[in-house]
Amino acid sequence: MSTVKVGVIGYGGMGGYHVKHMAKSGIIEAKGVYDIDPKSQKRAAENGLVVYKNYEDLLADPELEAVLIATPNDWHPFYAKACAKAGKHVICEKPAAITPSLFEDMAETADECGTLLMVHQNRRWDDDYLVVKNIYEKDLLGPIGRIESRVQGANGVPSGWRCEKIKGGGMMLDWGVHMIDQVMFMMKEKLLHLYCQYSYEAGYDCDDAFKLEMVFSGNKCVEVVVDTNCFTPLPRWVVYGHDGTAVVEDWDLHGKMVRPIYTEKPREITGIKAGNGFTKTMAYRPHDTVETLPLEIVKPEPFAFYKHFIKAMRKEEEPYVKNWEVLRVLKIMTAAARSAAENKVVEIDF
Ligand SMILES: NC(=O)c1ccc[n+]([C@@H]2O[C@H](COP(=O)([O-])OP(=O)(O)OC[C@H]3O[C@@H](n4cnc5c(N)ncnc54)[C@H](O)[C@@H]3O)[C@@H](O)[C@H]2O)c1
Repeated sequence: MSTVKVGVIGYGGMGGYHVKHMAKSGIIEAKGVYDIDPKSQKRAAENGLVVYKNYEDLLADPELEAVLIATPNDWHPFYAKACAKAGKHVICEKPAAITPSLFEDMAETADECGTLLMVHQNRRWDDDYLVVKNIYEKDLLGPIGRIESRVQGANGVPSGWRCEKIKGGGMMLDWGVHMIDQVMFMMKEKLLHLYCQYSYEAGYDCDDAFKLEMVFSGNKCVEVVVDTNCFTPLPRWVVYGHDGTAVVEDWDLHGKMVRPIYTEKPREITGIKAGNGFTKTMAYRPHDTVETLPLEIVKPEPFAFYKHFIKAMRKEEEPYVKNWEVLRVLKIMTAAARSAAENKVVEIDF
């Protein structure tokens, strides 16, 4: 099968990443680029890509079956709709749109034009996430009551459009969209309500950090935390099951699962000194009453997103990232913003 030729709109950090990644895949490749910035145009020409003078020229190129949109977030709807109307399939970077209604409009236009719109929720294939999803699906720690999903950096919010609300800046739209998508793609329980707090410490009109608590049926709780001003590493994931706890420390998959060893004989609980007091409740178990296991590693298929995109484009399978899932995440982010603005729990009725 011949490689799928793609035009790229927005050749910055992520557009450049896609071009390189596609080139290694052997199934999809970037032919050319449209970008408003002369520096990006120059870089594209130096990298042997066609540089289109305007986006209409890119859309008129019959060799392109699909377009990748990797502009700042506020431009995604405009280009996605133009691509659909030109008969091009679209890979759209996340967040697909800044509001749910803008995304509905994009998705409806693609449906009307008979083209595919698939949002690049690439973190569904992150191996740290696949470790946690595997624990959840295989019940490796018994019923799970609580999950903490956290990312943090110490470099603040990157400068430029990511600091401007009107351009779709802020960490909820940047990272929240991935982390909520991961949670919703995994959890079988129904999301009932949420509570969110935003941080504006950096002084922008959009959030530089947030903490979101999502409560699901069965009293399961997922906490999603993003911080851009944290100076010590904290675990990427902590999973609390009835029969064990898992920690995924980082993206290099350091971590472990610790499970209690159950015995017939009642266990004697010894206390520990804790600060100015004494506790049995908060004492860890002695080593011989728990087993420590390595994380079960699940390796993602290489180039999985592009493979699924091509299959969906050829109507050989349903899109792996479905537009109703994308819309649901955007609605959850809208509910989180409302919760943060009004400082209250928001019920989820969708
Ligand atoms: N999926 C992921 O893991 C991931 C990672 C990083 C970024 N992203 C997403 O990719 C998109 C781009 O992010 P980035 O980090 O590459 O940003 P960037 O600022 O590095 O690049 C954006 C590029 O778009 C160009 N551009 C701006 N406005 C344009 C317009 N109207 N028409 C054409 N080109 C325009 C800029 O000149 C720049 O070259 C964002 O939606 C972002 O959320 C996704």
